[in-house]
Amino acid sequence: MHVDIITVLPELLNSPLSHSIMKRAQDKGLLTVNTHNLRQWAVNEYGQVDDYQYGGGAGMVMMCEPLVNAIESLQKERKYDEIIYLTPDGKTLDQQMANQLSLNENLLLICGHYKGIDERIREHYITKEVSIGDYVLSGGELAAAVLVDAIGRLLPGVLNDETSALTDSFQDHLLAPPVYTRPAEYKGWKVPDVLLSGDPKKIDDWRHEMAIDRTRQRRPDIYKKHEE
Ligand code: ADE
Repeated sequence: MHVDIITVLPELLNSPLSHSIMKRAQDKGLLTVNTHNLRQWAVNEYGQVDDYQYGGGAGMVMMCEPLVNAIESLQKERKYDEIIYLTPDGKTLDQQMANQLSLNENLLLICGHYKGIDERIREHYITKEVSIGDYVLSGGELAAAVLVDAIGRLLPGVLNDETSALTDSFQDHLLAPPVYTRPAEYKGWKVPDVLLSGDPKKIDDWRHEMAIDRTRQRRPDIYKKHEE
């Protein structure tokens, strides 16, 4: 998968995506992420990419011209499956959306700042609007990093144990069961006997039961979907 990201703060994005599993995905050639500084397409030598909003009010708006030039110049290189704008008023990211997006070849992500981007860009270029939750960040960069991480780890070959993404929380609308590692007893706190039993069927059944209990208690909204 190839992901291009248009941003005014490429430094903010480069670091979170260059460690651990995202690094491995890129080293293996399964994922490429290129950040593009919007100021390359600024309207003047001062690097201007935003302006006051019509109708008055505090906060700047990202202008059409730099964004159109950035998008169209990247489109000359690649055909994008989706052009995604990260915004708190987008559809909230969940595991199903991440699964769906991980099936694409080429994505273009646009990070907003200040009051956001001119509405005409949303109408004429953006194909999908994504929020990472009901709170406002100071820009779309951290949201873009979250989205790329959630998608990137699902690409075939990225995770060592191919089955581990399937047992994550939220796959099948269930939270993950509790996990333990050595020692079997620490400060008198014991690992559940069943996990030491060596009986794979019993262990699977126990994990499933715990996942159901945990989801029912903590996230009845998700449990409802599991039952459907
Ligand atoms: N930009 C600012 N806040 C955001 C959020 N919650 N999700 C996505 N992009 C954002």
